[in-house]
Amino acid sequence: AQLNILAQLAGKKYFGTATDNPELTNTSYVAQLGNTLDFHQLTPANSMKWENTEPERGQFTFSGGDAIVAQAEKHNQLVRGHNCVWHNQLATWVTEGNFDNSTLLSIVENHCSTLVKHYKGKIWDVLNEVLNDDGTFRESVFFNTTGTAYMGAAFRAARKADPKAKLYINDFNIEGEGAKSTAMINLVKQLRAEGVPVDGIGVQSHLIVGGVPPTMKANLQAFAALGVEVAITELDVRMNLPVTPALLEQQKKDYKTVIEACKAVPRCVGVTVWDWTDKFSWVPGTFAGQGAACPWDENFVKKPAYLGIIEGW
Ligand code: XIL
Repeated sequence: AQLNILAQLAGKKYFGTATDNPELTNTSYVAQLGNTLDFHQLTPANSMKWENTEPERGQFTFSGGDAIVAQAEKHNQLVRGHNCVWHNQLATWVTEGNFDNSTLLSIVENHCSTLVKHYKGKIWDVLNEVLNDDGTFRESVFFNTTGTAYMGAAFRAARKADPKAKLYINDFNIEGEGAKSTAMINLVKQLRAEGVPVDGIGVQSHLIVGGVPPTMKANLQAFAALGVEVAITELDVRMNLPVTPALLEQQKKDYKTVIEACKAVPRCVGVTVWDWTDKFSWVPGTFAGQGAACPWDENFVKKPAYLGIIEGW
C-alpha cells in the first residue's frame, strides 16, 4: 500500500507533495515525484509566487510554474496553484509602489486573474497567511492600503478567471482550536455571507514533533461545518537535530495523527506534504537547528513517518 492509494481508498481526492524547479534536475528525485501510487498532486513551492510571476508590473513570467505543471501532467497529477496573494516573496514594486486603494485593488485583481487564467482547472491558494496568531488581520501592504477589501477582490477575480478553479484561503497555526482558527472561521463566514467565492480552507500544518494539537480533528470539522472544503496543504513535522530513534518514532505518530484527523472529516479532501524528502525540505534553512521533517530522509529512504501515514489512512 502506498500514500495516494490509501488516501483514495479513504475517499480523498489525492495525497500530494510540494516540489520546486531546481529539484527537477535530480533524476531519482523526479522518478519518485512521478510515482502516482504515492502522489496524485503537486504544489510548486516557489515558482508561482508573486515575485516570480509578476516581478515587474504587468510583466508575467510563467516558465517556472509551467515546468511544474508539465511535470504534473506527465503523470495526471493535480496541481495546487500557490499562491495569488501573500505578503512574503512579493514583488518589491508592489510593496514600494505607494499605490492608493483602488489602484492596489486593481493590481490584486489583475494578478489573480492572470495567474488563474493561465493555469486553468487548478486548485488555488488565493490568499496565503492573512491572519496573525492572535486572530487579528496581518498588516501587509494589502491590508494597510485596502483593509480587507483585497480579500474579496482576489477571490472574485479568481472565480471570474476560471469558474472551475477551487479557491482556498490558506494559513499556518490553524491546525488546532484557538484564536487564529476562530478568526479564520469568522473571516470565511463573513466573506461567504458577502458572496465572496471561498471554496476551501487550507491548513498548512508545519508542525513540530510531539506538537500535533489534540484538537486538530475537531478543528478541521469546525472548518468543514462552514460548508467549505478543507485540505492539509503543507504538512511537515520538524525536530531538533540530531535525529534520534525516539524522535523518529514520535514523528511517525504525529504524521499518523494528522492523517487520522483528515480521514475522519469527510470534507477534508486531501493531504500535501511540503516536499517528500529531507534533502529538499525548507526547514533547515528557516528554523536553525531543526530538520528531518519529511517522510523520506535525505537519501530518499522511507522513514518511520512514511509508515505513520500508511497507518493513518
Ligand atoms: C517556502 C519555500 O518552501 C521555501 O523554498 C522558500 O524559501 C520560502 O517559502 N508557508 C508557505 C510556503 O505558504 O509558501 C512556504 O514555502 C513555507 C511556509
